[in-house]
Formats: sequence, structure tokens, C-alpha cells
Amino acid sequence: MLDRLPERMRRVLYAAGTRADRLRDPDAVVAALDVRPGMVVGDIGPGAGHFTLRLARAVEPDGVVYALDVRRGILEDLRQAADERGITNLRTEFIPRDRLEIPEPVDLLFVSATYHHLPERTAYFARARTDLRPRGRVAILESRRQGVLARWLAIHASSPRQIEREMTDAGYRLVTTHDIVRDYWFGIFEVATA
Ligand SMILES: C[S@@+](CC[C@H](N)C(=O)[O-])C[C@H]1O[C@@H](n2cnc3c(N)ncnc32)[C@H](O)[C@@H]1O
Repeated sequence: MLDRLPERMRRVLYAAGTRADRLRDPDAVVAALDVRPGMVVGDIGPGAGHFTLRLARAVEPDGVVYALDVRRGILEDLRQAADERGITNLRTEFIPRDRLEIPEPVDLLFVSATYHHLPERTAYFARARTDLRPRGRVAILESRRQGVLARWLAIHASSPRQIEREMTDAGYRLVTTHDIVRDYWFGIFEVATA
């Protein structure tokens, strides 16, 4: 019903980024992450791998991407997609719901449309600081909760203010934001120094 309202009214009541918005230009998202050959990346909640497979290409030939998910089926499908494309630097890791388990520290943790799934996020990302290499970053792409009805309707979205607060409490500082995905908040954090 909200979809039939004029855009401005819809935004006042409730709007959030959709899957189609997120996947419209995955190359632009990956470009903003500034990943380079040789880097090690962890993708928390890779889903069908629209970003994961591109990240794996971006860090070739000697970089690695760890696809980290709580669903084995997702990881099996992703493994197959990588194999079909001849991508050899993607590792799939089944992880617990409440913490990261990565075989080695990474230069970047990428969290797309998954932040809202994570439990006790401040503790989760505070622990994750030990999974980052020096100057490591955490990039969060998350559907924006916006509008007066958001607290009831926005199940798969987060408030940018809440993300910033939780990440600050977890020991990070916001380095930059990108406005390249419609109705999504896209922020990059690094570990805050004392
Ligand atoms: C909406 S999909 C996002 C997929 C992809 N990142 C994208 O942007 O298209 C959410 C993903 O998070 C995974 N997930 C859910 N809870 C998780 C958790 N606690 N830890 C890691 N992954 C989780 C799901 O299995 C799924 O792959």
C-alpha cells in the first residue's frame, strides 16, 4: 500500500532500500571499498555472492576472500558459483551466529544487508577488532530505517545513528560514508586509536 503513495509521503511514513536497490550497481560498491590485489577480505553474510565474487576478483592473484555465513547451503552454492567462474581465491567458512571465526586477520570486513542479523553487535564488533590487520576496516552497507512507521516496519534495516553508536561503543571511528546505493547507509569504519 505504501508503494502507491507519492514518493515524498512514502519517505515520511516509511521507506527502506530494497534488494534491487542494493544490487543495481555492485561494481560501484566494490570500487568504493578500495580493495587491491593481495588483500584479505571477510564478507559476513555473503548471500548469493553478488559482492563476494567481485571482491575475490579484485584481490587476485594472491589475495583471499573469506565468505562467512551461518547457513551451509549458502556457502555450498557460493563455492559452486566460484568454481563455475574459475575463481580460486574464495574460501567458505561456516561461522557461529554470535561471533566471527576467521582463519587469519583481514584487511576488510564487509557487512552488506547483514548487520541487522547480528546479535549483540557492540560485543560482536569489539571482538572482531582482533580479526583485523593493522589499518583494517569494517564496511557496512545497510538498508536505512526511515520514516515514522520504521520502528514497526523496518525488520531488515537499521538506523544509521544506531549503527554509528554501536560501532563507536565497539571501539571504531567512522572514516567515511558513500551515498551510492539508494536508501542504503554505507559507512566505513576503522579501529579508533586512543
Ligand atoms: C540479506 S542476505 C545479504 C547477502 C549479501 N551480503 C548481499 O548484500 O546481497 C543476509 C545474509 O546474512 C547471513 N546471516 C544471517 N545471520 C548471520 C550471522 N549471524 N552471521 C553471519 N551471517 C549471517 C544469511 O545467511 C545471508 O547470507
